[in-house]
Amino acid sequence: MRYAEIPVSDAYELQNAGGLVLVCTRGPDGRYDVAPVAWCCPLDYSPASKLILVLDTGHRTYADLSDSGEFAVALPTKGQMDLVARAGSMSGHDADKYAELGIPAFPAREVDARIPEGVAGWLECRLSRIVVEGTSGVVMGEVLRAEAVPDAWKLRVHYVREGLRFTPGESF
Ligand SMILES: Cc1cc2nc3c(=O)[nH]c(=O)nc-3n(C[C@H](O)[C@H](O)[C@H](O)COP(=O)(O)O)c2cc1C
Repeated sequence: MRYAEIPVSDAYELQNAGGLVLVCTRGPDGRYDVAPVAWCCPLDYSPASKLILVLDTGHRTYADLSDSGEFAVALPTKGQMDLVARAGSMSGHDADKYAELGIPAFPAREVDARIPEGVAGWLECRLSRIVVEGTSGVVMGEVLRAEAVPDAWKLRVHYVREGLRFTPGESF
């Protein structure tokens, strides 16, 4: 093996599986929001699954879920990268993304959030805990309900960084 040193600011890419999700929330003003988040991973599975999101504390979705105590994470597909790019380049602090981007969506069942149509699946979560480190909010949530198409993992998008994303090739 030949190794090359990686700058510490880029080292996260080495372990970023980048399973991209769309965090879906509702604010106290009644407005729904949605934002792509690539820093998301499992936390537990028994008796129910738990997950971790790393959210910038300045985001509207962060403020919403801190206030409401609930959120959903939807799993966008390759065909939804335009939605991902657009929802990730504007803040719900400034605009109603569902209205402005014309995002067709349906209501989640156990939490008050809107799920964009066409996703591979979604997980409805109750907020367990938040730990703030600098400007990053480490958000822990417990899954109340989940739904997905068969083999949803095959349709998922993994976003490592700008210019490097992939969908799963083969399992072994
Ligand atoms: C592909 C992609 C991945 C992203 N991953 C994250 C992430 O892991 N954590 C985060 O805080 N923001 C992430 N962002 C940025 C937010 O989605 C973006 O700032 C968004 O506008 C926040 O919207 P909000 O203020 O309505 O919550 C990502 C953006 C894109 C396009």
